[in-house]
Amino acid sequence: METHTPAASRFRLRRSLVLVGLMGAGKTSVGRRLAACLGASFTDSDNEIVEAAGMSIPEIFESLGESVFRDGERRVIARLLAERRGVLATGGGAFVEPRTRAEIKANATSVWLRADLDLLWDRVRDRPGRPLLQTANPRETLAELLERRYPLYAEADVMVDSRRGASHEAMAQRIIEAVQAHDRAHGERPPTLEAVA
Ligand code: S3P
Repeated sequence: METHTPAASRFRLRRSLVLVGLMGAGKTSVGRRLAACLGASFTDSDNEIVEAAGMSIPEIFESLGESVFRDGERRVIARLLAERRGVLATGGGAFVEPRTRAEIKANATSVWLRADLDLLWDRVRDRPGRPLLQTANPRETLAELLERRYPLYAEADVMVDSRRGASHEAMAQRIIEAVQAHDRAHGERPPTLEAVA
């Protein structure tokens, strides 16, 4: 977990914000910036899994298998949501798992960072460490994941398009605006973001 000084934030976070979306969407980098803007803590669920397991993600996939990883991912996310309120970046497959998705829906406001295939591919192509892309044609694999997962990511409370060249700061501001709009549209619930006078 990383904590930021709540110095100039105009908001108080009343409900955790969980970033979902495919590998390369910018969940970690934008999430870190978003947390700084809100004076909130930032956590990356993949990092927490690696720490808890004492193994890298490729090692977990290789020695224990994907289903063990998914189970650990669900438990880590449930624990983090129960323990603290903040910004949580999740791995690309988390919101796809029905039980993990239900956990996030019940305890947080979810934000889908949507991006097109070209942008995602440009961001992941030279970065090793993603076991699902260790295939003969990783771009094609990414395209298949996009096809399969986008209808599920669409269940997130809020969607923000990740655009080429947009700064992390600009993305964080767009998320804040989109979450506020969502809060206004769901007035009966305590808001995710409370304006601080
Ligand atoms: C995965 C995405 C990865 C990581 C794991 C599986 C996925 O996280 O959790 O390799 O299923 O899409 P990022 O989305 O942060 O790359």
